[in-house]
Amino acid sequence: MSDPLRLGIAGLGTVGAGVVKIVRQKAALLSARAGREITISAVSARSRDKDRGVPLNDYAWEDDPVALAKRDDIDVFVELVGGEDGPAKDAVEAALTSGKDVITANKAMLAMHGHALAELAEAQGRVIRFEAAVAGGIPVIKALTEGLAGNDITRIMGVMNGSCNYILTRMESAGLTYEEVFAEADGLGYLEADPQLDVGGIDAAHKLALLSSIAFGTQVNFAGIALEGIENVTIEDIKHAADMGFKIKLLGSTQMTARGLEQSMAPCLVPATSPLGQLDGGTNMIVLEGDQVGQIVLRGPGAGEGPTASAVLSDVVDLARGIRLPVFGQPCANLVAAKVASAAKPAPYYLRMALQDKPGALAKVATALGDAGVSIDRMRQYDHSEPTAPVLIVTHTVSSDALAKALSALPGTGVVTGTPVALRIEQV
Ligand code: HSE
Repeated sequence: MSDPLRLGIAGLGTVGAGVVKIVRQKAALLSARAGREITISAVSARSRDKDRGVPLNDYAWEDDPVALAKRDDIDVFVELVGGEDGPAKDAVEAALTSGKDVITANKAMLAMHGHALAELAEAQGRVIRFEAAVAGGIPVIKALTEGLAGNDITRIMGVMNGSCNYILTRMESAGLTYEEVFAEADGLGYLEADPQLDVGGIDAAHKLALLSSIAFGTQVNFAGIALEGIENVTIEDIKHAADMGFKIKLLGSTQMTARGLEQSMAPCLVPATSPLGQLDGGTNMIVLEGDQVGQIVLRGPGAGEGPTASAVLSDVVDLARGIRLPVFGQPCANLVAAKVASAAKPAPYYLRMALQDKPGALAKVATALGDAGVSIDRMRQYDHSEPTAPVLIVTHTVSSDALAKALSALPGTGVVTGTPVALRIEQV
């Protein structure tokens, strides 16, 4: 058998402790599968004294992750510290320049600095693996880089943030407002330390940016994502959408179009009967579409100790087996700086507006939409007892320009109160 693969693990939070447990408890199985032993030489975390539910006495301790990354007795630096910059990035750079491969769960760091880090890794003859950075326990990076290597990827869609999916599905099942469920989720510890990362869609967009790069051979471009969080999704929209046969999801979507790379992370309607529509609670789902395979749906836990540590171990075992792939599936020189799509692809939209309940009001709205080139597919009006009545419209497929023109014309009708809501309907 070859020499052991020696790990240095920085960050002993939920995931780090989970990785240590698996390496200890499954030593024989991992060794049989990898063809060599997998050991831990040293670890690093903020507090040495904390009880993490796993013995750490067998491993050398470093207070500084950069010092850990440079140790001569490790082959692979496992970065589970987190954070876009700071100690995590410093330590990853130190690991690469001192000849170590890197495994990381850090989607923020890779979304912002992925291309530069991949170039550094390549220049040093090292690799960076990041299965745990996208959708926790779902092996989506492996699916894209290996299982679907013979395909042109045509589209990726998915629910990539369990906390947002929990909030949206709980709002619907309990009939609670966004604010009520946000407070509940925060109290249960379901949200990141900075909840804006979750509810602002940023965490999910980090993941989408990484998938886009692998799928389309492009340089990671987080800034090119049309990003909107779930803060403005109301219980009324969730109920009305359900009434029309849809669910509202924080949906990531990426595809290469003639207009450029179109990446979006935003609340969208999906058919209630579709796999995405049926996804409840904190689970993730990634829909991959390839020109040869058609559609594949991956569903599973997107966070938590076991699932995320499982993804880290997948990378560990691959490195132990000698499987070394370019960071984003192709050498950096092949990755193009893709043009960002100038407009979203045509789609049907769900519109909700408060309409004055008087003769001719609906006709004025229909005319404004028609003049902008927006054709109505279905329409409903509710609650005539109010001075204004909510009107819901599902449009036929329209261009984003036509939709914008229609939305800007609605206030001029004099019959629409407040700002209309427009949510894209994703056909899945
Ligand atoms: N907070 C994330 C989620 C997990 O809820 O999916 C880590 O990305």
